[in-house]
Amino acid sequence: MTRFQVRNLALILVSLLCLAFTGGVVATLILKPEAFDSAIGGPFALQDPNGRQVTDARYRGRYMMLYFGYTYCPDVCPTRLQEMTLALEALEAQAPELAARITPVFITVDPRRDTQEALSAYAAHFHPRLEALRGSEAEVAQVIRSFQGYVNYVPQAEGADYLVDHTAYVYLMGPDGAYVTHFTAFDDETEMTARLARLVD
Ligand code: NI
Repeated sequence: MTRFQVRNLALILVSLLCLAFTGGVVATLILKPEAFDSAIGGPFALQDPNGRQVTDARYRGRYMMLYFGYTYCPDVCPTRLQEMTLALEALEAQAPELAARITPVFITVDPRRDTQEALSAYAAHFHPRLEALRGSEAEVAQVIRSFQGYVNYVPQAEGADYLVDHTAYVYLMGPDGAYVTHFTAFDDETEMTARLARLVD
């Protein structure tokens, strides 16, 4: 085979593998959504901006509204954290006893730049009850993967800061620690508030 043929064959094989994988995921979602749901989330041990250890056990008995991001994020993270804040504030106005059951949590995926001080200062821009957490890069990568998410450090041109490509869902976890729902970029704060009012009890 020529090099061209080898490359084409490789491309076809990769495409087939991708199709098979996507097909498998779609089939799982359609046939057994609860299997997918139960695979979202898991135990973690991180630190708050004062260096105190915080584990997932802290959030048993209440709802956790969780977002992964980083303080250097140019646009997506501040927007999503602002939406979380507005959604929770709207729920506080309409059903304060439900809103009180929800703890907003922000886990940084960029602990190298998000020092304790930077994280604490950043979190202060959002909901007053927002709990910011950090860990080592390996620890936060493991936590985001347990939420079926990803994090990827993207080097930029020399002299420029690196970017962090990451899952930008807002997850709602129940009092038992189990997945309840998640909000995508298509869900604005109005949709978030409506769904929170429906799902939180
Ligand atoms: Ni971001």
